[in-house]
Amino acid sequence: MQPTKKIWFDGKFVPWDDAQIHVLTHALHYGYAIFEGIRTNSTPKGPAVFRLKEHVRRLMGGARTYRMQVPYTEEQLVQACLNLVNENGLNDCYVRPILFSSFGEMGVNPMKNKVVGAIAAWEWGSYLGDEGMETGIRCTVSSWSRIDPRTLPPHAKCSANYANSILAKMDALSAGFDEAILLTTDGLVAEGSGENIFRVKDGVLTTPTRSAGVLEGITRDSIIQIAKDNGIPFKEEDFVREDMFTADELFLCGTAANVTPIREVDNRAIGNGKFPVTRKIQQTYLDAIHGKIEKYERWLAYASTPAIYSTGTA
Ligand SMILES: Cc1ncc(COP(=O)(O)O)c(C=O)c1O
Repeated sequence: MQPTKKIWFDGKFVPWDDAQIHVLTHALHYGYAIFEGIRTNSTPKGPAVFRLKEHVRRLMGGARTYRMQVPYTEEQLVQACLNLVNENGLNDCYVRPILFSSFGEMGVNPMKNKVVGAIAAWEWGSYLGDEGMETGIRCTVSSWSRIDPRTLPPHAKCSANYANSILAKMDALSAGFDEAILLTTDGLVAEGSGENIFRVKDGVLTTPTRSAGVLEGITRDSIIQIAKDNGIPFKEEDFVREDMFTADELFLCGTAANVTPIREVDNRAIGNGKFPVTRKIQQTYLDAIHGKIEKYERWLAYASTPAIYSTGTA
């Protein structure tokens, strides 16, 4: 990770090296933190943050689910992300806001500790690799099930959820695969360890429903809109493991991973190795995030815009 100049830390910009927390920070011990992953991309009009308001809204939704007393407004966090990109002079970068219970009382109950926010931004290439985006990646079905909604709320991007993703990812990598695909405890396909999954069969695009415990990805939502706008038949529908083996195409998507084709699942080749629908969606998505498609400009927040909310102060 290449350090940048400043990190937004509890309302102030501080030098990268000074954004420190105590080892007894509550969130470090119990995973009580909500975070986001957002991308800023270069466009003809300068760096633009992709679907910033939706990301911050999801962050605040997760905080509400977890009864966090967040000392900032949605508007302040949106503005802070934009200011951070400017402050660091970044173009293409990843933006990581986090809200966490800080330091004071130990024990499971977080409610006596102040909630603190931080936002960092740095340059980060495609999460599953540029080659993966081009030629597709190799996945395995994890022996770990995706967290069940009765165990942890899967729609909140809570740090604790990622213990589940970490187990699946480590096992997949150790077995020589690029990524894990997790099933629900009922055997439905849920998602990758940090991405949503889509399937193409006979020209129809499908992705698992909310009931499969997926994170409601903002890339997932963008792809659904792109498919609809481009006349690609689409339905939200759950599917099972063997539906992946018989798919014509499969791909993973997420802010970090963009749109990455899957070429194999558990050593079975997917389709004929060509991904025409995936390619079309991938290219349209990349054009959208880089400000090349006018109708999707509504998804962009230009970092150079001084204030997109009149009340933004951070
Ligand atoms: C578990 C999981 N699923 C799906 C996604 C994709 O979500 P998004 O497109 O909002 O980045 C992510 C990434 O944040 C994730 O961590």
